[in-house]
Formats: sequence, structure tokens, C-alpha cells
Amino acid sequence: MVSTIKNDRLLKALMRQPVDCTPVWLMRQAGRYLPEYRATRAQAGDFVTLCRTPELACEVTLQPLRRYDLDAAILFSDILTIPDAMGLGLSLDEGIGPRFERPVRDVAAIEALGIPDPELELGYVMEAVRLIRRELAGAVPLIGFCGSPWTLATYMVEGGGSREFRLAKKLMYDEPRAMHSLLDKLSRAATAYLNAQIAAGVDVVMVFDTWGGVLSTPDYHEFSLPYMRRIVEGLQREREGRRIPAILFTKGGGLWLESIAASGCDAVGIDWVCDLGSARERVGQRVALQGNLDPEMLYASPQRLRQGVADVLAAYGEGPGHVFNLGHGVTPQVDPEQVRLLVDAVHELSASCHRR
Ligand code: CP3
Repeated sequence: MVSTIKNDRLLKALMRQPVDCTPVWLMRQAGRYLPEYRATRAQAGDFVTLCRTPELACEVTLQPLRRYDLDAAILFSDILTIPDAMGLGLSLDEGIGPRFERPVRDVAAIEALGIPDPELELGYVMEAVRLIRRELAGAVPLIGFCGSPWTLATYMVEGGGSREFRLAKKLMYDEPRAMHSLLDKLSRAATAYLNAQIAAGVDVVMVFDTWGGVLSTPDYHEFSLPYMRRIVEGLQREREGRRIPAILFTKGGGLWLESIAASGCDAVGIDWVCDLGSARERVGQRVALQGNLDPEMLYASPQRLRQGVADVLAAYGEGPGHVFNLGHGVTPQVDPEQVRLLVDAVHELSASCHRR
């Protein structure tokens, strides 16, 4: 295994160590806005097959790195691989989004769920990680990820995406013990999954809690955060003498930054609604912060986008501990040239934040 990473800005920033300029990567940096991604997906036939074919998953992971001066690669996969491996039957249709053939709606269905063995049912993900790591040859770190138990539970109970989370919330309110038992299984599955990714070669892990922000404050602290904390506590935090940093991202979690920062993670991802400067004051020295440009600013003029980058960098201010990202993923209609402008602007404009 390669044990040195040439560009280690991301790892340093996540550990709040000094860097020459602010590292940048983007959620959904591999995706439909790239013509080469659309071509590879067409070659695979559909999204799920793309995820399940390690050579193609490796190819799309590397595509944005060939174009842009990114400081990290993120494994190309999906958070819904775990429920799929639990037997729910995942499909994804353009315009409809993800669907499960066999949603989980009652106590009996929850009790019947097994914890997937990451090297068996999810072996294709580990194979992709090993391939990507070999291809990267230590150029930049590789980020692995999973969904938060709460976010996975919403898809599993609803049978797909949702706006009101009627069924997931009904289960949570009417049968909290059943919901806890589902979340408990998911946190065990996610911990094993991330540890297998670490063993296969990822350098950083991130937990995506896309739907934590739809919970009330007490419900977030009962049904989402504790299960992410359990994942963090169960992680293999070191490999080859190097720490594997863990990032937690709750979209809409700005109100709860202090409790997220106290969960044992190394960094907290924040969305664009949250002010980065006050976030930094609130978490103090405890964690690094990742974020938080409005993803829709990629549709603004080049000048406005560059100003937006400058504003995010200024909001964080001087010193280490910032990883530049969007507040959520790149959307499909974005002009790839705008992504180049963003990445280059981060490196250029941030050098002055790191003079000592
Ligand atoms: O960030 C990256 O570049 C890595 C790849 C990645 C994907 N999904 C690829 C993908 C990651 C990290 C995810 C995580 C994911 N998946 C989340 C959490 C982050 C977030 O975006 O909030 C969630 C909620 C999912 C579930 C999911 N997968 C949805 C809701 C959708 C459909 C919506 C959409 O954007 O199309 C997907 C499909 C998906 N996952 C696509 C990609 C590139 C688009 C599939 C396609 O049509 O090619």
C-alpha cells in the first residue's frame, strides 16, 4: 500500500494544522454536470450498475480530478448501498430518484433485517476503493462515506425520497422503539461498512445526514446525532500510523453545531444557511469546518461566483481548520467551467488566509 500522500492539504486542514492554502473538494463532484460522467453512466446502462461495477465507479471517481485541481477524491457510490445490501432492492430512475422495491414499514420487517457483511454484499464497493487507491497512487486523499442512520431510515421507510417524511415520522412518533431498533441496526451496519472502506484504503470518512435537519431539536438529539456518534466511536481511526479523520454533515444542522462538534468527530460540514464565521466561534478549537458556498451560486456570473468564494474564505478568516466545499452537492445543470473557476479561486484567494 502507498503510505505517503503528495497533496495532504485536506488531511492537514481536517486536523487543524497549517496549510499553504485552503483545500477544496465538492460534494457530488462526480455527477451529471460532467459529460464524461453521463457517457460512463450510459455505458453502464443505469446508475445502480455504475455503482456496482468497480472499474466504472473508479473511472467516474477520477473524472473530476482530471479536469480540476481538486484536493481530494470522493469514492463514487451512494449512501443507499447499505439498504440495498439489506435486501430492499434499489433502483434509480432519472427524474424520479431512488426507489426501494421492498420498503421497511413495520416491526416484523425491521426485525428481519440483517447486517450486511461489507466484504461480501458490499464487496463491490471495497473493490472500487482498492482500484481507486491504486490509480490515485497517493496523489490526493480518498474520502469514503456512508449515510447517517436517520437519513437511511427515511429512505427505507418511505421507499424512496420524500418531502414530508410522513411514514418515517409516523413510525418515529408512534413506535419509537421500532425506529430505535432500525437505527441501531443501521449504525452497526454503517460502522462495519466504513471500517471496511478504511481497511480497503480510504483516508477520510464522512457521514451524510441529509435529512437530520427536518427533525425537531429533541428528536435530532434522540434519533439522529446519537447514532452518528456511535459510528464515530466505533471507527478505526488510524491506519499505517496516520489518523483517519471523520467528518459529520447534517444538512440544516446549524442550530446544533455545538452538540455535533462534541460527538468525537474531527470536522463538521455546514450548509450555506449557516454563517461560517459564527460557526467557527461556536465550535472553537474542537473541530475543523467544511463548507459552505450556496451550490446554486455556481449558476451566477463568473465575477459573482469569485466574490462568493472570497466571501466564504473571509467569513472563516485566517488560520487553519477550513475545508472549502459547497453547502450541498453540485447540481446537474452546472457549467463545468464554473467549477474550474471556483476551485482555482479557492487556491488563489486563500493563500493570504495562511500567511504566518
Ligand atoms: O459526492 C460525490 O461525488 C460522490 C458520490 C455520491 C453520490 N451520492 C452519487 C450520486 C455521494 C456522496 C452520494 C450521497 C447521497 N446519495 C446522499 C447524501 C448526500 C446528499 O446529496 O444529500 C443522498 C441523500 C443520496 C441518495 C440519492 N442518490 C438521491 C436522493 C439521488 C437522486 C437525486 C439526484 O441527485 O439525482 C441519488 C442518485 C445519485 N447519487 C446520483 C449521483 C451522481 C445521480 C444519479 C444519476 O442519475 O446519474
